[in-house]
Amino acid sequence: MSQDYIVKDISLAGFGRKELDIAETEMPGLMALREEYGEAKPLKGARIVGSLHMTIQTGVLIETLVALGADVRWASCNIFSTQDHAAAAIAEAGVPVFAIKGQTLEEHWDYLDRSFMFADGPNLILDDGGDATLYILLGARAEAGEDIIPVAQSEEEAVIKAQIAKRMAASPGWFTRMRDQIMGVSEETTTGVHRLYELQRDGRLPFPAINVNDSVTKSKFDNKYGCKESLVDGIRRATDTMMAGKVAVVCGYGDVGKGSAASLRGAGARVKVTEADPICALQAAMDGFEVVLLEDVVDTADIFITTTGNKDIIRIEHMRAMKDMAIVGNIGHFDNEIQVAALKNHKWTNIKDQVDMIEMPSGSRIILLSEGRLLNLGNATGHPSFVMSASFTNQVLAQIELFTRGDAYANEVYVLPKHLDEKVAALHLAKVGAKLTRLTAEQAAYIGVTPEGPFKPDHYRY
Ligand code: NAI
Repeated sequence: MSQDYIVKDISLAGFGRKELDIAETEMPGLMALREEYGEAKPLKGARIVGSLHMTIQTGVLIETLVALGADVRWASCNIFSTQDHAAAAIAEAGVPVFAIKGQTLEEHWDYLDRSFMFADGPNLILDDGGDATLYILLGARAEAGEDIIPVAQSEEEAVIKAQIAKRMAASPGWFTRMRDQIMGVSEETTTGVHRLYELQRDGRLPFPAINVNDSVTKSKFDNKYGCKESLVDGIRRATDTMMAGKVAVVCGYGDVGKGSAASLRGAGARVKVTEADPICALQAAMDGFEVVLLEDVVDTADIFITTTGNKDIIRIEHMRAMKDMAIVGNIGHFDNEIQVAALKNHKWTNIKDQVDMIEMPSGSRIILLSEGRLLNLGNATGHPSFVMSASFTNQVLAQIELFTRGDAYANEVYVLPKHLDEKVAALHLAKVGAKLTRLTAEQAAYIGVTPEGPFKPDHYRY
């Protein structure tokens, strides 16, 4: 058979395998699922398209899905987030993977298309940010005669439109067939979940979806503690700048913003926060951060980080007003938090991969990280394995649920039940030496739970 993968350099597989072996020792949740389900293989017959950052941690996720019986094909969900040694090791192990760090946008959408090419087509999607789901649903609408992107608003929209047209010409009816045979999607991140709820609201969700992000053991850990470790890691690897004493502005104080502000404070920076939501603004203030308007600090701060999942947060007029050599980056899912397109006709000097210096008309310069794409994965290696184990244990449980009990779900968005959330946390306690107190029957009855849990009502917020 001809080669069924696209990676940068397959000879990196040995290095990737060593790091996968190390990661396994830090991913107790995934390893416990291999132990629990390895023999029963509940995913036998599942054909999973994965669209999620092709990192070492994702490699352990992929090999867990395979150990549980699934066939898997994989693309990355971001052009800069692939770890080429991870992709090589997974490809060498026989899983078709299509991912190169620094791939073009055209390659990105082509690789996503290739990840759907199972002989019998896929039956499940594991998504991060919603691109795999979007591709199929947009394509199916185009096949139904809709003008899906009448005028492309961005370079990426133009690329998506061209990729869909190419696939429609090559295989008429393909998107509709794919849509009809997908049993469900599990979605990793806030931005992708947002898209799914919009589809549900508009009556356009054609299969059940599991919102992995809003498992407590995902967003309250990966988004927060993950960014706490990986944000500063990305800034340091990109710039080697001294953090202590610098003024940093974090736009957004949701889960990612909380972790990001803590990351910068931990490195000694003086951190200010911008927020639109009064609850999160008050949280920031009571956590000891000054809550400001971007306009008021734009000419005095040294580092600017967007974490909102919203668009046009740092605009061209902000970047023009910044101090010379201010550092600008985004850790939210998409690059439209910073108006990078408006910088295109400025003078760019590439410093190294994913680090550019851009000159404003006034002559002052900014350092832009990962062209505005999520910098912890573009400039560093994303979150550590341990926290990704909690996220990905939820992902595997969601895939098992969709594959084995999909009929029990309507075409709506669901979160996993609390007992599974608690199970994910429980699987990670021993690794950090945590000992859990067992409630007596009397204590459990007094607070209205059972000693086995669930320990909180669904409305509890953690
Ligand atoms: P969230 O909804 O908890 O927080 C976003 C916050 O931004 C909200 O509190 C909102 O009020 C605020 N916000 C919105 N517009 C604003 C504006 N104009 N100015 C100031 N604040 C504004 O979402 P979460 O979970 O923190 O995720 C944020 C983004 O990060 C999403 O795109 C998500 O997909 C992504 N993400 C990235 C990760 C990474 O490793 N890079 C990990 C997890 C999530």
